[in-house]
Amino acid sequence: MGLRGYPHLISYPLPMFTLATASPTSTDAGSVPLDLASAIASLKQSLNAVILAHYYQEPEIQDIADYIGDSLGLSRQAASTSADVIVFAGVHFMAETAKILNPTKQVLIPDLEAGCSLADSCPPDAFAAFKAKHPNHLVISYINCTAEIKALSDIICTSSNAVDIVRQIPVDQPIIFAPDQNLGRYVMAQTGREMVLWKGSCIVHETFSERKLIELKVQHPTAEIIAHPECEAPILQHASFIGSTTALLNYTQQSASDSFIVATESGILHQMQKQNPHKTYIPAPPTGPCACNECPYMRLNTLEKIYLAMQRRSPELTLPEETRLAALAPIQRMLDMSR
Ligand code: 13P
Ligand code: SF4
Repeated sequence: MGLRGYPHLISYPLPMFTLATASPTSTDAGSVPLDLASAIASLKQSLNAVILAHYYQEPEIQDIADYIGDSLGLSRQAASTSADVIVFAGVHFMAETAKILNPTKQVLIPDLEAGCSLADSCPPDAFAAFKAKHPNHLVISYINCTAEIKALSDIICTSSNAVDIVRQIPVDQPIIFAPDQNLGRYVMAQTGREMVLWKGSCIVHETFSERKLIELKVQHPTAEIIAHPECEAPILQHASFIGSTTALLNYTQQSASDSFIVATESGILHQMQKQNPHKTYIPAPPTGPCACNECPYMRLNTLEKIYLAMQRRSPELTLPEETRLAALAPIQRMLDMSR
């Protein structure tokens, strides 16, 4: 699978051509081995490395990972690993979180260009100015943001703990929620709290078509619609369950239903199918004739790039210590608040 059909992404600085130009056979040490999975396993031993992968990775990457999880699970794994090297098969902000939690470990990322439209929608300078306009507000930021935004925040949250974290804040404390407005609105609806929202969003979760979703439901009347809270409200209103990727996966295993329409990045279907192959999982339809329910950033990673990153010990994720320390405090607060 690869990048295909994202005509509306022209305004984003996507590294669309990285895959085409990076030859998997042009390594310093010769060609890439045919059995990449075995080669990666032996590099993992020699480096004492751990491979952490998000559910939106290609199935073949999920299959060689030591741990697959949602953002909270991945942060917890990154915080507790005894490995010397963390290979992060996900996007930049996730690898940054691993580095923030592990300053002495080497964090490798298969493709440094694997960013995030949501993180990009919140530039630090503009956010600092926004924050200054709302004095006395507590800043709760979704983990899908850069280390600089984390450094400007009081508490970090993920899609699995956002509601719970907001509920722990005294009711008279005003809150800024950034950068995802869809998750922010969902949290407001769940908690009854007003929050000042930064108007960012994820291109993947805003791609779903309500009309096509309803048509699909008519074709599959017994299928349950389940959705990630980064989706827009018109999609969420049709969902019988809303949750993080891990919560969606667990729900499909526990529910008595045997078919699901899944409104999130389609990579999660691989684990759903693996964990319960007798059920049917249908990806929610994007608006256009594209594979827009695949995250173009997550899908930059490949097994070849993981192998090469481990072999070359590069690209390595690094952060200025001042930024790391400022970003660590709100992440630590989140981990403490979500035990
Ligand atoms: P979670 O896996 O934490 O639900 O996050 C989804 C996502 O968009 C990651 O980029
Ligand atoms: Fe960012 Fe959306 Fe991709 Fe997640 S799915 S990494 S929020 S662009």
